[in-house]
Amino acid sequence: MPSRQSFRPWGRSAGRAIGVTASMNPVVVRHLSVPMPALAAPGSGLRIAHLSDLHLADWDRVIEGAQTHLLHLKYDLLAVTGDLIDGRCDIGAGVRLVRRFFEPLHCRYGTYAVLGNHDKRELCTYSDLNLTFLNDHAVTIRHSQVDFELAGVEQSQDNLGDVPGTLGLIAPGRPSVLLAHYPSTIYELPQGAVGLLLAGHTHGGQIRLPFLGCIHSADHIPPRLARGLGAVDGTRMHVSAGLGCSGPIQARFLCPPEITILTLKSTILAAEPPKNRLEDIGSAQGRIEANSATVV
Ligand SMILES: [Fe+2]
Repeated sequence: MPSRQSFRPWGRSAGRAIGVTASMNPVVVRHLSVPMPALAAPGSGLRIAHLSDLHLADWDRVIEGAQTHLLHLKYDLLAVTGDLIDGRCDIGAGVRLVRRFFEPLHCRYGTYAVLGNHDKRELCTYSDLNLTFLNDHAVTIRHSQVDFELAGVEQSQDNLGDVPGTLGLIAPGRPSVLLAHYPSTIYELPQGAVGLLLAGHTHGGQIRLPFLGCIHSADHIPPRLARGLGAVDGTRMHVSAGLGCSGPIQARFLCPPEITILTLKSTILAAEPPKNRLEDIGSAQGRIEANSATVV
């Protein structure tokens, strides 16, 4: 029987191999370029960190990992598309977790959020969360002398928001981003009403199968739209796989928790091939893999 010592070289090699590909941080970071038709060239390059479905109930390693990423990533605006607190969590404990997560996060244009079906409207009454809630509301953000419209619809436990009313707040002709919890909101958007819809809720399918991908989107959308970039009738959409879990199986398979950095590009600049990659920066030197997401 080989001695324990004889295994050491193998152990070191295996350790180095694992060290290259594995990460202590369970949250992956995707980088995607998104063409924006109404975006004048000077405004190109706005970076939106898209976060969704935290399902805060405990301060676990996924939440810790996501916050660590967001403290080190470069982005101009943080957009959160609902399910901040898990529906089973007491609102008081949930608010403390939300405050702990978002309080240290700062970026140029701030953090904007909408509520999801696990969230109670009461969350919006707390003014010390370092969050701006867009409940059927829109704001204008000036980036490199270009005005962006950022709007959000409430889709909480207490209220399904007013999509047409919210769209009416968006100044026509400007590049616009709409936050919603449900990806199926895209079917309520007239063609050209918004440049980009950001949504969550699906958890990317949460359980994905080899070759088949998402088997249950949990929303009225085809499974192929349950994660990543997609489009319906010319409106682009990014659906985040989010961070947390819900449903009878509290687990993910082939669908890691994620944060996405979306870089908005003028369509003039978007003629060059988009540089998309899946990056897990939790490892010591970072890990870069090919990203299967498609820019449409
Ligand atoms: Fe969720």
